[in-house]
Amino acid sequence: MSFFKQLISRWVRGLVPFLMAANCWAIDSYNATSGVLTIPQVALGNVLYSNVNITVDQILAASTQAVADSYDTYNPVNNQLSIPSVQVGTAKYYNVVITVGKIISVGNSCTGLFSCYNATLPSLSKVYAGKFLFGFGGVHDTLVRSKLLQTDSVMQQIVVKHSNIININCFYAGSVHPSSGVWKWTNCDSLLALAEQNTGWKKRAHVAFWPFNSSASLNLEWLLVGSDGKNVSREQAIALLRDHITTMMTRYKGRFNYWDVVNEAVDYTQADGIRAGLWKDVIGSDLVEVAFTIAREADPSAKLFYNDFNEWVPAKREAIYTLVKKLKDKGLIDGIGLQQHVKLTSPTTALLDTAISRYAELGLEIHVTELDVEINPDGIYTELTPELSLALANRYKELFAVYAKHAGSITAVMNWNVTDSSSWLLSFPSTHATWPLLFDADGKPKLAFWGLTN
Ligand code: GLA
Repeated sequence: MSFFKQLISRWVRGLVPFLMAANCWAIDSYNATSGVLTIPQVALGNVLYSNVNITVDQILAASTQAVADSYDTYNPVNNQLSIPSVQVGTAKYYNVVITVGKIISVGNSCTGLFSCYNATLPSLSKVYAGKFLFGFGGVHDTLVRSKLLQTDSVMQQIVVKHSNIININCFYAGSVHPSSGVWKWTNCDSLLALAEQNTGWKKRAHVAFWPFNSSASLNLEWLLVGSDGKNVSREQAIALLRDHITTMMTRYKGRFNYWDVVNEAVDYTQADGIRAGLWKDVIGSDLVEVAFTIAREADPSAKLFYNDFNEWVPAKREAIYTLVKKLKDKGLIDGIGLQQHVKLTSPTTALLDTAISRYAELGLEIHVTELDVEINPDGIYTELTPELSLALANRYKELFAVYAKHAGSITAVMNWNVTDSSSWLLSFPSTHATWPLLFDADGKPKLAFWGLTN
């Protein structure tokens, strides 16, 4: 056995427990017979080459320590290439340093590392074409103002590269309609203009009415208090809600394909299935139906959605089903938005699968509207370890397998926020580090991205 083969077989023995725990797939692949390693890209200084074939002299080290950078990097001084992973037959090795013989061929090369690198990646919307649309939401989040799509070039490049749908969340009451007669359109105008530059993209608007949010700036409860300090009547409340929804929807009439009309109104512990709060006190249990009736009249060409979280919890699922069925029977609704703010092991894929099957019985479109995976809920980790990165990748893979199983009912999947540095989970419910998305803080794709695209 050659020295190289002995080295490989020693590795295999050493890494078996780690590999058995992992569900691996090919990223970089090594052909042990020819000695050729094929990798998606390699950075030489500031120049990035894609689709590189190189011959390998010797593998120096493999470890489970994090590689500093998810790019493949080549150091021409000592002839060493660092890559995140290598596939040898059926075995997979992580964080590998090798010495390189010669570069046989390279694909494209370009300078300007991020844009160049981004251009070499597979596009998520193309990978899932024929199954469902893919895109992002939370591109304008009041919670992460430092990372707005309009001003962040890395976010823009990622969104443009991977999307064929966008969920524009500029319609929070506090942003767009902060007080009586005051409307602020700048964010919605500019985000929609940016989206419209991308021909063929579908556009979602989020969110016309979020009546039970605990924040006074979001729930529009100020509308309900008259000048005498008392609550307005049901009729007055409906007129005010009509003005709110109609003003937004007619301004952009025909430009949004989908509207989230009502967000988070269900509470299965209430007899009527609707959350308690001032809006219910003033209008009554049919306030969701009232909002959808107004929205239907305001823009009959838009598809109207009801959007909620914890949508897989059986009791809540049934309450959402009942509400949406009522709306469907009256021709007022076209789709259900499943927020999908999930964790590593919750919900189980079985619970999720059951929920989607149940909603699919209604024959409406289903959108995954706000997908992210909280992998550090207790703040135990201070860095994204290779094991955690792999666990996240496996979680994304199993979630997308469920979505793909229901392709047809599920017509779109969107991440909430774009990069780990723009995630709302960095500021809510706590401020510890978390890495819930497919792109790291710098916008580089994580293992989870490669798991979905390879
Ligand atoms: C919910 C809402 C979104 C957004 C996220 C957090 O899921 O539907 O509008 O506020 O929370 O960013």
